[in-house]
Amino acid sequence: MTGTEIVDLCRRHTLFEWSAQAAVDPIPVAHAKGIYFWTPEGKRFIDFNSQLMCVNIGHGDERVINAIKEQASTLAYANPFMATEVRARLAAKLAEITPGDIDAFFFTNGGAESVENAVRISRLFTGRHKIGARYRGYHGGTAGALTLTGDPRRWAAEPGIPGVFRIPDFYHGIQKGFDTTEEVLSRTEEVLELEGVNTIAALIVEPVTGTNGILIPPDGYLQGLRDLCDKYGILLIADEVMAGFGRTGAWFSVDNWNVKPDLITMAKGLTSAYVQLGAVGMRRHIADHFQKNVFYGGLTYNSHPLACAAALATIAVYEEDNLIERARSMGQVMRGLLEDLQSRHPSVGATRNIGLFGIVELVRNPKTLEPMAPFNGTSPEMQALGKHFRQEGLYTFVRWNTFFTNPPLCITEDELREAFAIIDKGLDITDQAVL
Ligand SMILES: Cc1ncc(COP(=O)(O)O)c(C=O)c1O
Repeated sequence: MTGTEIVDLCRRHTLFEWSAQAAVDPIPVAHAKGIYFWTPEGKRFIDFNSQLMCVNIGHGDERVINAIKEQASTLAYANPFMATEVRARLAAKLAEITPGDIDAFFFTNGGAESVENAVRISRLFTGRHKIGARYRGYHGGTAGALTLTGDPRRWAAEPGIPGVFRIPDFYHGIQKGFDTTEEVLSRTEEVLELEGVNTIAALIVEPVTGTNGILIPPDGYLQGLRDLCDKYGILLIADEVMAGFGRTGAWFSVDNWNVKPDLITMAKGLTSAYVQLGAVGMRRHIADHFQKNVFYGGLTYNSHPLACAAALATIAVYEEDNLIERARSMGQVMRGLLEDLQSRHPSVGATRNIGLFGIVELVRNPKTLEPMAPFNGTSPEMQALGKHFRQEGLYTFVRWNTFFTNPPLCITEDELREAFAIIDKGLDITDQAVL
């Protein structure tokens, strides 16, 4: 099929995410390799968002493809009441690489299901029901995960599930900036007291926030949350669905501060999206609770052998190719490139990155830091920038007044510079709007 035929048929018979359907303009994708993907007509794109921040090892890795093929021909599926070798090996490997004494895993089909199960486990384990989450956070598109989500994607799902309350954010948009660790923690403790500490099962946070702005917490914040949770018998859930698996230059983003959560949710980079898989990991004593107590949870595709095989092979790629360390060192290169952009383009109001998890915030006025597009909105300049990226063969997320720089972790320095050269030219467009 031609690209146009693919797009027309997809638009006619499928729904695209989070959009009014008349507004969508998808790129037809035929094949992909490394950091690139191609349309059926052969136009090449640099995948500067690793698709949905998930193809961390890069596209088309034969080691993962062969592992999937081999598993498909040996045992494509066994129901979750069975025990399989890939399930056993994957869980043991995850116990090795996850922080602290996280030791047991429940496998799911993705991030949202992992979050749903983390919430249920927290409630069953503590006997409490409330869950605290932040406004600037995304946790998935199912009922509970959307209630925990603070950003506008939650609005249409309201009233949502009972028992969810908000804990304070440490970032308030480019004009108001960041709170100090002390400020945000003291306001958090006040909210916990007002909610009733004995009613709270868990707090869930993205340790480094993803789609809501690559928000890197001030030092001491995550440890402070850990301490508050310990003080009040509340569980800490680290949602590592986007920030996990090397994205920040560590296996998990909490590792950057050496903080150990009680539960950890993961998906995306777990298989680099070659096959869909999510997991919720839990500390030993939480897993032990379910020795005598029923674990009320189940999914037909829990521990799917194809997905487990893809995950094992993907983790081996991170290790063989030193992709975690690579994300850290290439993150330094990206830092330099981002700082260079900011020094030369007046429309660049802020840049942030940790490892290969990066963002640029654009402003209309460098003095007042008025954003180039409003909260939850767009502007002609942001649209023109998105158009430039597309024309020049750079794919990334352009959201509100920001765009993301999240390439696969296998990217080379030359490839990174190639992408930044396209960005550099595009920023001439937004510079023209600067007052
Ligand atoms: C932090 C976080 N949690 C959960 C999810 C939901 O994952 P999924 O779309 O696989 O259900 C996402 C997806 O982007 C995410 O970024």
